[in-house]
Parts: sequence; C-alpha cells; structure tokens
Amino acid sequence: MLDFSQLFSATLYSFENKEKELLYHISLLQKNFTKERSLRLSDYLEDEKMVSAYTLFYMYSNWPKYNFVADKIPESLKDRYAHCHFIDVGTGPGTYLWAHEMMFSDRAKKLVGIDLSKIMLKQGRLLKDNFFAESEVYLEKNYSASLKKSLEGKERILCFGNSFNEMTDDVFCQYIEDVDPTFLNLIFLGTKEVFQRFKKLRDGYLLEKFDVIYPCLTQENCPMTLEGGDWCHQYLYHKWPLAFEQLSQKLKINRRYTPFFGGLFVKKGLWKKETTEDEVVFMRTIFKNKGEAKMLVCNGQSELEKISFPLKILSKEQKKNIPDLLAGIKMRIKREDGKIKNIIW
Ligand SMILES: C[S@@+](CC[C@H](N)C(=O)[O-])C[C@H]1O[C@@H](n2cnc3c(N)ncnc32)[C@H](O)[C@@H]1O
Repeated sequence: MLDFSQLFSATLYSFENKEKELLYHISLLQKNFTKERSLRLSDYLEDEKMVSAYTLFYMYSNWPKYNFVADKIPESLKDRYAHCHFIDVGTGPGTYLWAHEMMFSDRAKKLVGIDLSKIMLKQGRLLKDNFFAESEVYLEKNYSASLKKSLEGKERILCFGNSFNEMTDDVFCQYIEDVDPTFLNLIFLGTKEVFQRFKKLRDGYLLEKFDVIYPCLTQENCPMTLEGGDWCHQYLYHKWPLAFEQLSQKLKINRRYTPFFGGLFVKKGLWKKETTEDEVVFMRTIFKNKGEAKMLVCNGQSELEKISFPLKILSKEQKKNIPDLLAGIKMRIKREDGKIKNIIW
C-alpha cells in the first residue's frame, strides 16, 4: 500500500496544507455517494479538485477491497490468475490497477484502466508517473479494437470496481462480451438496490458463463429474497495509518468497517467448487436473549435459513462477540438429528 502522505504530492490539485478545503470536498463526495445526491452522480468526475479528493480519501481506502477479494482465489487457480492481463473498468484514478500491481508485482502483464472521465484518467497517469513508472499501463476512455488485439494471447481478468452502479446492465454485459475474461472480479458499493440488480444478472447472464468462486457456496440461484431488506455483503475491516484515521474522524466517516459486495467468478468448466455441507454464510442475528439465539444464514440452497440454538453450545468468547458478528463471515454448523450441536466461526 502506498504511503498516505506521499499521495498528497501526486494529485492533480494539491491539498497540501489545505485541510479545510479537503474536508469540504470529501464531504461533498460522501453526500454524492450516499443519501443526498446533491450533485448529479457524475458531477464529481468533471472537476480536478473533486477527483483529487476522491483519490486521497476513496481510492486510498477502497484499495484493500481488491486484496480481500483476490485473496479468495483457490490454490489451484492462483498461478493462472497471476499470469493474466488485468482490465479494470471504471478504474477512476486506477484504484484496482495499483492494488493488483502491488499484489502481483513479479508478473509480466498489461494493466488496462478504462474510464469515461478524462480527469480520472489524467489523475491515473499522474499516479503511474509517480509510483508505477516501470509498469505497463494503458489508461483509456474505451476498450477499443486495437487495445483488445494487444491483449490477445494471454488470459484476462476483468474487474469492475465500484462502477457497476454507474452503468446499465447492457453496458456491463457488453464489457464482458468484449473482454471475454477468464476471471471476473466485481466490487461494488453496498446498497440493497444495487444488489437487487446484480442478483438478476448473477442468476441469469453471469451463471451461464461463469462459476462463482466467492462469496456464494453453490452455483444455484441466489436465495436472497430482498423482502426483509437483507442483501448479501461483506465487511472490510482495516486499520489505517494515524493521519488517515484522523481525517476520517474529522469527517465522521467510518472507513474502518466498510460494507461492500465483493464477488469473484471464473469461466465455466475451469474449476469445480468443493462444497462443504456444514458451511453457511452469516447474514444477521434475528434475536438473542439470555438462553437462545436466532440467526439468518445462507446455506447455498434455494431459501435463506433461520437457525435457532441454545447459547450454551457456544464458548464464552463466542457468546460475547455475537453482537459484533459481521455479515459475510463463514460459519460451520455441526448438527445431530436435525439439532445444532456446535457452531464454529
Ligand atoms: C466510484 S468511481 C470508482 C473508481 C475506482 N474504481 C474505485 O473504486 O476507487 C466509478 C468510476 O466509473 C466510471 N464509469 C462509469 N460508467 C462507466 C462506463 N460505462 N465505462 C467506463 N467507466 C465508467 C466513472 O467515470 C468513475 O470514474
């Protein structure tokens, strides 16, 4: 990971010694990404100050999400993954290009970032010149025929990093058709509306072409009904350097625990998932009283499962940390005669 303070000298607009101005611009971005939508979603892409603030705050703290997802590659596919060219659509300032390059720095590959915003691309080039001058990087407005040709002869990873929610399904699928990736890496901001769109695509178009490596337990249709407001997501927990931590405290934006969806897919027929019968994914605790707890979990079958169990089967430590359990963690459930005897997380 890059040093946070070094980034200040590599943004299009310099926020060095201008903390107030930086806080103001990050707050505007945050409103844009969450509830107020005071800007049009795309307005932040046309302003050098906004893109610089994005780079310092969001690029810097989005970065580890890539490592979280790429770490889920199974051992048998690791080498294949590491040998691919890497194409990041909606790359912004190059967020996941740099994350991928740092993770696989010893491999010869092309890094391709596609983005509609000229200013994001300009910012990306500045970061390349400052920190990745030796890497083979292409930052382009579209996935042109000549770019496509130059990537032939090697398998490809296609990544959509927080850009799925800014494009239509047709555009998303067209990128997949054009790139024809072996691996698909999907990271998007956590809202149930975006998840709902994704679920439809997953159960149809995506499962025709790919197998899900992560986070799903099976290749069946996703059981999330979306009725109770549930949606499938994970949390990235990250401890930041002090300067970044202080900045997020001043902004009252929690970047220690960030909910997001991270998915990893591989072209059909290249890999077979080993399913473990007792494995489930934790969604949420429905209730917990003195003697009993009830949880909602995904077991990869056609419906989410509600599990009830007496707290006495848990260790002291487990009982204490039930309120802190984060969506997306895997659990193993040991059952006997239909009753839960033990849960491991
Ligand atoms: C929220 S930013 C994400 C940047 C970066 N991937 C990250 O996670 O930090 C979304 C980016 O997607 C880009 N974008 C939106 N629609 C696009 C499309 N159809 N093709 C390419 N880029 C697109 C935007 O210009 C913007 O830079």
